[in-house]
This record gives sequence, structure tokens and C-alpha cells, in this order.
Amino acid sequence: MTVKKAGKKAIRVGIWGLGRAGWGMHCPELDRFKDEFEVVAGCDIDQSRVDELLARYPKAKGYTDGCKFLADKNIELVSVAVRSPQHADYAIRALEAGKMVFLEKPIAISPKGLKALEAAVAKYPGKLFFRQNRRFETCFNHVQELIHSGILGDVYEIKLCRHGFEFRDDWQTLMECGGGQLNNWGPHLIDHGLRLLDSPLKSVWGDLKTVAALGDAEDHLKIILKGENGRLVDIEISGGVALPSPVYAVYGNRGSLVSEDEQDIRLKYLDPNQKAPTHKANPATPPRGGFGGTVHPKWIRKTIMAEPSNGWSMVDIYHALYQTIREGKAFPVKPEEALDVLRVILEVKKQNPAYPVTADEFEKATLASTRSSRSTRR
Ligand SMILES: NC(=O)c1ccc[n+]([C@@H]2O[C@H](COP(=O)([O-])OP(=O)(O)OC[C@H]3O[C@@H](n4cnc5c(N)ncnc54)[C@H](O)[C@@H]3O)[C@@H](O)[C@H]2O)c1
Repeated sequence: MTVKKAGKKAIRVGIWGLGRAGWGMHCPELDRFKDEFEVVAGCDIDQSRVDELLARYPKAKGYTDGCKFLADKNIELVSVAVRSPQHADYAIRALEAGKMVFLEKPIAISPKGLKALEAAVAKYPGKLFFRQNRRFETCFNHVQELIHSGILGDVYEIKLCRHGFEFRDDWQTLMECGGGQLNNWGPHLIDHGLRLLDSPLKSVWGDLKTVAALGDAEDHLKIILKGENGRLVDIEISGGVALPSPVYAVYGNRGSLVSEDEQDIRLKYLDPNQKAPTHKANPATPPRGGFGGTVHPKWIRKTIMAEPSNGWSMVDIYHALYQTIREGKAFPVKPEEALDVLRVILEVKKQNPAYPVTADEFEKATLASTRSSRSTRR
């Protein structure tokens, strides 16, 4: 049993969408911080899922009707975890109903959604929070810290990969449902990439393919972000790669790091006492023998556990939200950063003509799922 700590005023949450994310991720994450959050309501079009919520949180109220859910005065914060095409619309409806909102990724999937969220951020300052939860990923934070420590020298290229091979066949593989890896895993790694650039974004290039998934949306993508500082971030997300590449690879002019699994980080970098050679390259014919330089690198090699000094892990995001709402601490994900992630996603879609580009085309492509959401707007 969790004992409530004195002095804490729990935030009263309503979860909208009780599926793999709402039920499977939000509920356990909220349960970790029972003195900071109380699940007071849930809404899902599936009554059996609402019943499960009521069994888990006996004091909560359950809804299948979105309007009745939003009219519940006891809810302070709405966590939006329905399917992706409804995100922007539902977040704005909750803001209009006077709630704070914690919005799942992708925060929107169309230019129209982007515009609506830009307006909402301006209209409701401090009320709309974006759930870029991989910002809290342990390995990401440690990799960022190692880059900033300077031991790898000037970092010129970073590779971010999430590879797997699956004959995936759920709605996340269908364009009409807002599926595809760009909308699904894209927000996580694009957010990491934009942070790791350490510079304003200069250019974006992206390519989308369907390899193994059974829907029509992409399950393999490559995106290259280039910073104004010249640094490249090369992102690959795939459900069609049978032999996965490391999750993180960072190249600097004094060393590299690699993480295969987000748990251990392997480092090979120049001894900090070794100065970079300053002599010029020699155009004369070299002596026979080796092909390398005349100065030999003195390496330090080590493997460390991913343990960033901020101690963050992904399941801490709700705690950070509490600190923001109740204690006035800045939320680590700034609204403009989340909107930038969406801008990159939309740019990559624009570069891939097989995917919807204009607002009208987005509307058409997401019509089926939007229609089903309207039917619940009672
Ligand atoms: N941040 C993360 O790490 C993370 C992880 C997984 C999923 N997600 C995001 O969460 C969202 C949901 O994904 P999921 O895998 O849980 O989907 P899901 O299909 O498993 O769950 C969606 C739930 O919403 C309900 N629902 C659908 N339409 C509704 C409506 N109009 N009103 C109320 N309830 C409705 C469904 O019945 C279902 O229970 C997606 O946008 C996905 O991108 C985020």
C-alpha cells in the first residue's frame, strides 16, 4: 500500500483511451507516484476497458462518452492516449473544457493539427504538455552527457537506430489510421536527434518504405538531420531489419561510443593527455611499410552502465509533470521543441509523395478514423 506523503496535493487525472498506452503505460507510471497523482476518471469507447479501469481504481468514474468525460469537474488533467489522428483535436477539446492536457505522441499528424496546436500553445500557456517520454530515457541522457563532457572531442556524426523485424498488422501500420513508423517511433528519435544536434536545424532529408508490415504505411525510415554546426544525425527506425545495428553510435574527432541495447555504453577515446598532432601531412613518398600516421593514438577503452547523473528513466515523466504543475518547475519538454518534432515529421512526409502532403490529403487519409471519433463526440 502506498502511503500519501503529507503536504502533497495529488493531481486528479482522467485518462482518455485505455489501450496499450493508456492502460499499459500511463496507469503503471501513475501508480508509481500515488502521492502525486490520483486517477479519478477514464474514458474509452470500449465499455469493458472502462470496467477494468473501475476495478483498478474503485473511486474513479468511467465514461464511454467523451463529452461527459470532459464535463467531469473533478478532472484537472486529461492524459490523451487515444489513436494518433485524434490527438490534436481531443487535446484542444480538453483545453476548451478547462482541463490541463498531457498529450501523447505523435502530438498531431497533419499540417492542420500543427496549426491548431500552435494556436493552443499560445492560447493556453502552461496548460498543454507534450509526452515526449523518451526524453527521459536513461541511455539518451547518459549519451547526451558524454557528448557534452568533451571526451569524444568534436562530435560530427550520431546514429540513432531502432531496428526489428515484424510482420506487424495492427492500426499502427495503416495510413488511414495515422499509422506508420514516422508517426509512431519518429517523434521519439526525431526529438533525440534535435536535442543531440546542439545547434539549430539546417536541413532535413527523409525516405520512407514499407518492408515487412502488412499495412500500407511505412515500417522503415531513414532521416538525416543536419545542424548549422555541420553535425549530422542519422536516424533509422525499422520493422524490416533482421540484424539490428546499435541503438546509439556517436563519432567524435577524439573517440566514439556505441550502445547496442540502451543498457551498456562502450567507449573508445583518446587519452585526454594526448594532444592532437599539429604537424602537416607530408606529400613525399613514404617509407615502405605501414599506411597509418606517424603518431599513434593512445586509447582508453571502457564499457559503462547507462546511468546519467540526472538519474532519469522513462517512467519518471509523470513526476516531472507533477513538479511543473504543483511546484512551478519548468517542464523538460518545451512546447516549441515538441512542435519542432512535428515540423520535421511533416517535412519528411512532404518529401515522400506516396504519403499524404496537403491538409486536404491528410483529411482524406484519416477520414475513416476521424469518422469513428466523431461518432463518439456525443
Ligand atoms: N509515448 C509512448 O511511448 C507511446 C507508446 C505506445 C503508444 N503511444 C501512443 O498512444 C496512442 C495510443 O496507442 P495504443 O497503442 O495504446 O493504441 P490502442 O489501440 O492499443 O489503444 C487506444 C485505445 O483508445 C480507445 N479509443 C479509440 N478511439 C477512442 C475514442 N474516440 N474515444 C475514447 N477512446 C477511444 C480504444 O478503444 C483503445 O482502448 C498512439 O497515438 C500511440 O502513438 C505512445
